[in-house]
Amino acid sequence: MECDVKTLILFSTRDGQTREIASYLASELNELGVCADVVNLNRTQEIDWSKYERVVIGASIRYGHFHPALANFVKKHLSQLNELPGAFFSVNLVARKPEKSSPQTNNYTRKFLLSSPWQPDRCAVFAGALRYPHYRWYDRLMIQLIMKMTGGETDRRKEVVYTDWQQVAKFAREIAQLNSKSGV
Ligand SMILES: Cc1cc2nc3c(=O)[nH]c(=O)nc-3n(C[C@H](O)[C@H](O)[C@H](O)COP(=O)(O)O)c2cc1C
Repeated sequence: MECDVKTLILFSTRDGQTREIASYLASELNELGVCADVVNLNRTQEIDWSKYERVVIGASIRYGHFHPALANFVKKHLSQLNELPGAFFSVNLVARKPEKSSPQTNNYTRKFLLSSPWQPDRCAVFAGALRYPHYRWYDRLMIQLIMKMTGGETDRRKEVVYTDWQQVAKFAREIAQLNSKSGV
């Protein structure tokens, strides 16, 4: 698909799940006739903002925090972000619990929205993935401990993807409708 203007989807990931979600969002947007570029927020140097009509940022949580690159990016590009309709999504494992999966009930997301100088027009929280075999021994142990405490999967041979792809598709439809800064 050739497009004059596109949606920019930036992601910050440690183990790849946020990139997967960003790519899925892009393919869903494509289905809706919307072109999207998917770019790693940690690696981007110069962005040609004139190509974009919307911006989406997705970031994952590790040990209670987003990657510092997220806040740095927002700070550095605040004026451009403020000019475009925008959406944000966070990815974490707490969100596998329905009562902790909305922007208001997911603490990481709520805190981000409270402190961020960039206020996105739309926001979503997605449950991420648990991939024990890919973690280093210390992380594996810590995650297993957290899972034990919160009633989750503790088998260290397992990989579980908790992401609800229907929810991601729904978010894509919301993003496609963001046509002006007021979100109308
Ligand atoms: C070392 C480590 C620490 C994590 N810490 C948290 C956490 O504090 N809270 C949480 O909800 N999820 C936590 N997670 C789960 C991740 O947010 C989840 O695996 C997510 O899918 C990671 O996305 P990414 O692959 O894009 O980095 C942690 C995962 C790892 C590997």
